[in-house]
Amino acid sequence: MKHLTLQRKKISALPTSIAYPERLSLANLPTPITKLERYSSRFGNVNIWVKRDELTGLEVSGNKIRKLEFSIAEAQAQSCDTLITCGGLQSNHCRATAVIGARLGFKVHLILRGEKPEDPDGNLLMDYLCGAEISFLPADRWSEHLDLASQLKAQYQSTGRRGLFIPTGASDATGLWGYIAATEELIADFSRLEMTPDYIVCATGSGGTQAGLIVGSKIFGFSGQVLSFNVSDDPEYFDLKVRQDVKDWQRMYSELLEGTAGSRIIPSDLEVVTHGGYIGPGYGSCDEEVFRTIQEVAVSEGLFLDPVYTGKAFHGLVTELNKGSEGALANADNILFVHTGGLFGLFPQQKGFAFPEFADF
Ligand SMILES: Cc1ncc(COP(=O)(O)O)c(C=O)c1O
Repeated sequence: MKHLTLQRKKISALPTSIAYPERLSLANLPTPITKLERYSSRFGNVNIWVKRDELTGLEVSGNKIRKLEFSIAEAQAQSCDTLITCGGLQSNHCRATAVIGARLGFKVHLILRGEKPEDPDGNLLMDYLCGAEISFLPADRWSEHLDLASQLKAQYQSTGRRGLFIPTGASDATGLWGYIAATEELIADFSRLEMTPDYIVCATGSGGTQAGLIVGSKIFGFSGQVLSFNVSDDPEYFDLKVRQDVKDWQRMYSELLEGTAGSRIIPSDLEVVTHGGYIGPGYGSCDEEVFRTIQEVAVSEGLFLDPVYTGKAFHGLVTELNKGSEGALANADNILFVHTGGLFGLFPQQKGFAFPEFADF
């Protein structure tokens, strides 16, 4: 792999500085942090803070764009003109790739899990609008998606195009940089707010956000715990996936990491905390109580969570907090929830919400 010019970035307030690979500036950064004043009051002295990564952009909102800043820089470095990626029908990652591809002049080909719906909604509607090419692959044939990606890459090559395959959620060695950089941003936020949370909490779907936060915490010296709620697969899967991604990252960027804190990380020693039990009926569908939590947060804070990722993780956070000293967030004074986006996934699930009767004035 071709390595690009290094960008050394020093932030004097921070205990360490690292070199990043080439990166595009695609997200609105830094994102703000909001304290949930009213909602937190339900939990006595615990403060819930939210890192507003749903504000990284409008059409490209959410966590994926932080990873794509590095993945698409890589595509440009390899002179690619086509991006091939994959995910669910309502994939936020695919939507962000489709939008940014249109913006930067890439052809985008998405492999989406499921049958082509009659009416595209939410993220899928945006994929259509951005002109992404889409292959729908039924769920029972999903094991073929990597083969299909290779075939597509070869087909594009035979027509003179050059494709880069970005795996699900851009959760690979390159995408890992997104949340390493986000952790650097968080450490600066904590210093400005004069608050260091006991926990950083996020949803985990393909593992890249979680892995980046864990590695970033090691590099930049975050003293609390990174705790994730998985919305797909299981904690054992993410235990392996995170360690494997970190190993790949160390191998792929060995030159860049030489002599830095990143090279001293031992993947098998990492604390990978994934809390299971909040998937509900399965990936992409959720119980009544998650819909209720989403509504309560919207009512009390004007903050919108989604039913696939952030709603489930936030519901997990609240449920664990309610367990007090028996819960996964025992002894917390401050908790930082990373809002990873997903707003467009709310609309296709509108039937899950119970709305009040409105007064007839
Ligand atoms: C809105 C949203 N939040 C969280 C996640 C999980 O992030 P990751 O795939 O990095 O685990 C995803 C994607 O999977 C997402 O789209």
